[in-house]
Amino acid sequence: MGNIGFLFPLVVVVAVVRNCVATLSAESPNTTTDRLALLGLKPHVTHDPQNLLATNWTSVTSVCNWIGVTCGSDHQKVIALDLTNMSLRGTIPPHLGNLSFLCHLNIRFNHFHGSLPMELANLSSLKYINFGHNNFQGKIPSWFDSFTQLQSLFLCENNFFGVIPCSLGSLSNLEVLILYNNDLKGQIPIAIENLSNLKWLYLDNNQFSGQLPAALFKCRELEILSLSNNALEGIVSQEVRNLTRLSELYLNTNNLRSMLSVGLP
Ligand SMILES: *[C@@H]1O[C@H](CO)[C@@H](O)[C@H](O)[C@H]1NC(C)=O
Ligand SMILES: *[C@@H]1O[C@H](CO)[C@@H](O)[C@H](O)[C@H]1NC(C)=O
Ligand SMILES: *[C@@H]1O[C@H](CO)[C@@H](O)[C@H](O)[C@H]1NC(C)=O
Ligand SMILES: *[C@@H]1O[C@H](CO)[C@@H](O)[C@H](O)[C@H]1NC(C)=O
Ligand SMILES: *[C@@H]1O[C@H](CO)[C@@H](O)[C@H](O)[C@H]1NC(C)=O
Ligand SMILES: *[C@@H]1O[C@H](CO)[C@@H](O)[C@H](O)[C@H]1NC(C)=O
Ligand SMILES: *[C@@H]1O[C@H](CO)[C@@H](O)[C@H](O)[C@H]1NC(C)=O
Repeated sequence: MGNIGFLFPLVVVVAVVRNCVATLSAESPNTTTDRLALLGLKPHVTHDPQNLLATNWTSVTSVCNWIGVTCGSDHQKVIALDLTNMSLRGTIPPHLGNLSFLCHLNIRFNHFHGSLPMELANLSSLKYINFGHNNFQGKIPSWFDSFTQLQSLFLCENNFFGVIPCSLGSLSNLEVLILYNNDLKGQIPIAIENLSNLKWLYLDNNQFSGQLPAALFKCRELEILSLSNNALEGIVSQEVRNLTRLSELYLNTNNLRSMLSVGLP
């Protein structure tokens, strides 16, 4: 299980950065705003054991040469920020909301904490967000519905609590929603029925309760559904079979009873 949520995302990373490059429009090159936005992150990083930001994010070179930063090929705006596994500790400043062309934001496997600033809602070009494997706290913000182009959202292995906001149901391009290992609770929102492109849903290791909503069986593209280790109740009906693309289903450690006479493929 742990391995599944871990290997596939690497494939997604590569695919999405390519996707970013293809969908940009040209604009007169000016890196000033982006440079200030990234420099805004530096004082919020309180621990950088390899001194990566301190020695590399300097005015000697353009932001486009900074470690973890990718600019569009036809202009000098930052389209991707990838600080994966750099042992960074700190918080996310509002300044990152100024990276107006950002399409790909990946800071997984660090020690970022605190809550997410609302200014990030301005990043309406984001297709890929990975805050997984950090120490973020707070609720999943309802303003995540600003990310109208979002395809992948990873918030796994953090301390997010509260319910899944219904507003996430409006992310009609969402294909990957990974929320395992948090302190999330409440019912799986009915609004999930509107995620008609959803392929992978990982909600395992939280405190979700209530019945499995029939709405879930309207997500016809679902390939992987992982709900293990929650407090879900009721009967798993034959409607699971409506999910014809489903290849992996994890339901263990809940209060569910299965009415399926034969196992799923
Ligand atoms: C770049 O943008 C900044 C802030 O918007 C502005 O002050 C500066 O004059 C611009 N530089 C160029 C070369 O256009
Ligand atoms: C920053 O890191 C990038 C990528 O590793 C490298 O190409 C560049 O030369 C570094 N810049 C400085 C000033 O160290
Ligand atoms: C993180 O970096 C360490 C040290 O370079 C490496 O051993 C580990 O496999 C990396 N983890 C991930 C998830 O990339
Ligand atoms: C960037 O964002 C910060 C905080 O949200 C704001 O105060 C600042 O004026 C912005 N800077 C630019 C250059 O847009
Ligand atoms: C975010 O966008 C709103 C409206 O699009 C704008 O009024 C606001 O100034 C933006 N904030 C930042 C920090 O860029
Ligand atoms: C799903 O989307 C439709 C159309 O936008 C909307 O009318 C409906 O209320 C949504 N369902 C839920 C449960 O939010
Ligand atoms: C599942 O499929 C059956 C038969 O096609 C249909 O009657 C039912 O409404 C479907 N359930 C959902 C939740 O879409």
